Amino acid sequence: MTQPTLDLDFVRSYFPALQNGFVFMDNAGGSQTLKPVVDKLSEYLLNYDVQHGASYEISQKAGERVDYAQAELAKLVNAADPKEIVMGPSSTMMLRILSLTLSKAWQPGDEVITTNSEHEANSSPWTDLEDKGIVVKFWEVNLETLELDIDDLKALITDKTKLVTITHASNVLGTINPVAEISKVVHEAGALFSVDGVALAPHRLVDVQAWDVDFYVFSCYKVYGPHCALMYGKLHLLEEMAGINHYFIDQVPYKIQPGNRNFEMTYSMSGLTDYLQEVHDHHYPENADIYDQQKYAKTFDLFAEHEEKLSNRLIEYLNGRDDITVIGVPNGDRNKRVATIAFHHDTMSSPDIVEKVDPYKIGIRYGDFYAKKIVEALGLVEKGGPVRVSFVHYNTMEEVEALISVFENVL
Ligand SMILES: Cc1ncc(COP(=O)(O)O)c(C=O)c1O
Repeated sequence: MTQPTLDLDFVRSYFPALQNGFVFMDNAGGSQTLKPVVDKLSEYLLNYDVQHGASYEISQKAGERVDYAQAELAKLVNAADPKEIVMGPSSTMMLRILSLTLSKAWQPGDEVITTNSEHEANSSPWTDLEDKGIVVKFWEVNLETLELDIDDLKALITDKTKLVTITHASNVLGTINPVAEISKVVHEAGALFSVDGVALAPHRLVDVQAWDVDFYVFSCYKVYGPHCALMYGKLHLLEEMAGINHYFIDQVPYKIQPGNRNFEMTYSMSGLTDYLQEVHDHHYPENADIYDQQKYAKTFDLFAEHEEKLSNRLIEYLNGRDDITVIGVPNGDRNKRVATIAFHHDTMSSPDIVEKVDPYKIGIRYGDFYAKKIVEALGLVEKGGPVRVSFVHYNTMEEVEALISVFENVL
């Protein structure tokens, strides 16, 4: 059977915002929202907007709906148990909560390893622990290969290392880090392994068991949903961890979900899992009976293949110019990068480029993207940071060609 290609008209019909003629290429900042997500959000608010846990019928139904979505999200990331899914307002907050609870069990002199290519959301929660004597070490990106070298990690790990925490994909360069391989090294050393999956989850299916991660965090508003975030944690770790909710709350995940999950947003995320299944069934109508997780995998495979083509085209164009330097993987190889592409120009500043593109109604962006340490290490502060173009699966080749024509005019 030949592999189908992604039906762009079909997927784009699920995103009403895409009908307005604007070209969204700042998706690493935030993606457009699925109509099924918006529909579930309003379904919940219009019918079930009551407090959970009461004995009356609507309260029961409301709780069932949110629990259903939590189970769907558990299936999506291949968690073993829905209780392993913790919901919160943002990835920044989830990582802060993680640092607050884990560090309750740590002593001065204990060590955390993170990288210099993190979004600050996965950096300051750990460096702030230096005040209580925790030692934070930085695993630095090799500036020649622009990758993290596992031997460098091995040299940093000691018997005091409690946690290694890294980003799965760089939100600036798009480079994917080999988390399954890193997980083995970390666990052999007896440490915990936490991953910031924010820049990866819009592009690839998350599989927490295959990668053997202890914690995994991503933001729903970058995965076609609303402004909330999800943290997976292994059940036994969540059970052992100190809670940060009221003293009488000890159930997982509620004990690390202060103020509770946002009900309507959590419920709305089941619109994402519905969508992933519908994309599958549209492309493989003869296979509609397979397990949901197999469907998600095949759908994300279609996304990855399409995004690889878009990335190859833009990077090939940029590489062909002698005044532009692409920073990171020099092609669209889906095993090495996501479709987040950073570059700088020899003479023009990055703000100058982006502001010249703005009138063409194409949204791209420049800056440090809160990943200040890597932008500084790359020496790009003077340029205003790199220019970042970030595609997701709903972008079309026509849109990429339109961006290239605009670059031809403005560069
Ligand atoms: C890699 C990465 N981690 C964390 C965050 C922070 O996510 P949130 O906005 O949900 O706090 C971002 C946001 O851009 C990000 O790109």
